[in-house]
Amino acid sequence: MNTSRSLLKLTRSPVVSTWRRTLLTRCMSTSTIRLSDKLVVHTDTPENNPSIPFEFTPENLKRAEEIVKKYPPQYKKAAVIPLLDLGQRQLGWTSISVMNAVAKLAEIPPMRVYEVATFYTMFNREPVGKYFLQLCTTTPCQLCGSTEIQKTIENHLKIKTGETTKDKLFTLVEVECAGACVNAPVLAVNDDYYEDLTPETTIKILDDLKASKNPKPGPQSGRHTCEPANGYTTLLGEPYGPDFKIRKDLMDTPASEGSTTA
Ligand code: FES
Repeated sequence: MNTSRSLLKLTRSPVVSTWRRTLLTRCMSTSTIRLSDKLVVHTDTPENNPSIPFEFTPENLKRAEEIVKKYPPQYKKAAVIPLLDLGQRQLGWTSISVMNAVAKLAEIPPMRVYEVATFYTMFNREPVGKYFLQLCTTTPCQLCGSTEIQKTIENHLKIKTGETTKDKLFTLVEVECAGACVNAPVLAVNDDYYEDLTPETTIKILDDLKASKNPKPGPQSGRHTCEPANGYTTLLGEPYGPDFKIRKDLMDTPASEGSTTA
């Protein structure tokens, strides 16, 4: 009894309440929750079920056949990932009918294709917007402001991460390191990377995309690629010549004299 009373007293003490306040208000960042059942389970829906036909266009069928030809006949299954990618590019996402078409081409049971498509998150198993926005929120990007960029996109497009805009133009998702940390924060729009983002440049990119203009991919800060943001700090002089620190008499020796051949 005494113990509970003293505990109660302790939690009401100014020190503990300050600590609790700090803990409760501390800025914690969390990733968007992706439920495992959504990741690996397929449920037939009116827009995604095996009765909806999917066929590769004649042009893509040729491409698919070329892809399959790269592998020995007994290893056609190795072509599953590029074939799924081709199907996703054609339809815009990877429906169950796309997976079934790939299984047919690779001559393997559909389950083998489902296993691949549900493992790799690059395959969108639900429709996505025309512009698929993948915002990197891993540590280097987060330290360079990706949280602000995420809020900017959400507010500007009026969607939450994981959602698609009503006009089906944009889908926003969070991804792990996009492999361009030196130009953080980074946003991939379909196949293009937009780097060194600020809230202002992000809004401009979104507005340009909405207006069907093609914003220039790459660093938005004026950097050419990934050179130092504040200018070069090394290798500022003229490059050394091939004779740097070599004895002058050696350099002046005519080729015939230096030759060891008889
Ligand atoms: S952490 Fe964002 S690109 Fe690497």
